[in-house]
Amino acid sequence: KQKGPLTGRHVLITSGPTHEPLDPVRYIANRSSGKQGHALARAALALGARVTLVSGPVNLPNIRGVNAVKVETAQEMLDAVLDALPADIALCAAAVADWRASAEAAQKLKKERGADVSLSLAQNPDILATIAIPGPQRPELVIGFAAETRNVVDHARAKRRAKGADWIVANDVSAATGIMGGDRTQVHLVTGAGVEDWPAMSKDEMAARLLARAAESLSSVRSA
Ligand code: C5P
Repeated sequence: KQKGPLTGRHVLITSGPTHEPLDPVRYIANRSSGKQGHALARAALALGARVTLVSGPVNLPNIRGVNAVKVETAQEMLDAVLDALPADIALCAAAVADWRASAEAAQKLKKERGADVSLSLAQNPDILATIAIPGPQRPELVIGFAAETRNVVDHARAKRRAKGADWIVANDVSAATGIMGGDRTQVHLVTGAGVEDWPAMSKDEMAARLLARAAESLSSVRSA
């Protein structure tokens, strides 16, 4: 394993979408590919960290040297994240479904000719907000991601405060940008000190820069 500025540190990453079952054969999902989360895991590993990657269903190969925990639902993701604590840095890159079915049907839902159906949805736990709550288990640096289609930086600033995150990495995921599912990204880093507009680059390059910045910002005294 490589030695680096994150040697001796634990980096915890959430990645990918979540699947929220409606019945035994159907689920609610979203278009997250998990590419950004996997890029973060490779970058953290390259800096010497011990890495836990909690991932929803994605079509990406395992990364050698990364502790991969596979989950399906938001609730499972939260449980896996809490199990993986303590961590020095948490990066929440997962596109967690905001809602799940209020009740999962035990049997396949049947259609009735001509009849519309409405779904009752319950709110999922917010994993980022949960781990950002101050306390002995809170990672020293909690980083969230914000995918927006407009007013990207304003929303990211508000999100940083609302969720208690230290940093928010914000990007514009309008269809025309090709960021969602693509290999490249262009982000704004929102910290307590202000906003940095980063140039367009690959998701791997962005991950490497972000993890290098995160490593610098950790206090030199190890928490564990
Ligand atoms: O509120 P929104 O979903 O836009 O916030 C995005 C950020 O919050 C991402 O870092 C995402 O991983 C995290 N999040 C989470 N749990 C949720 C919803 C979002 O960790 N239920």
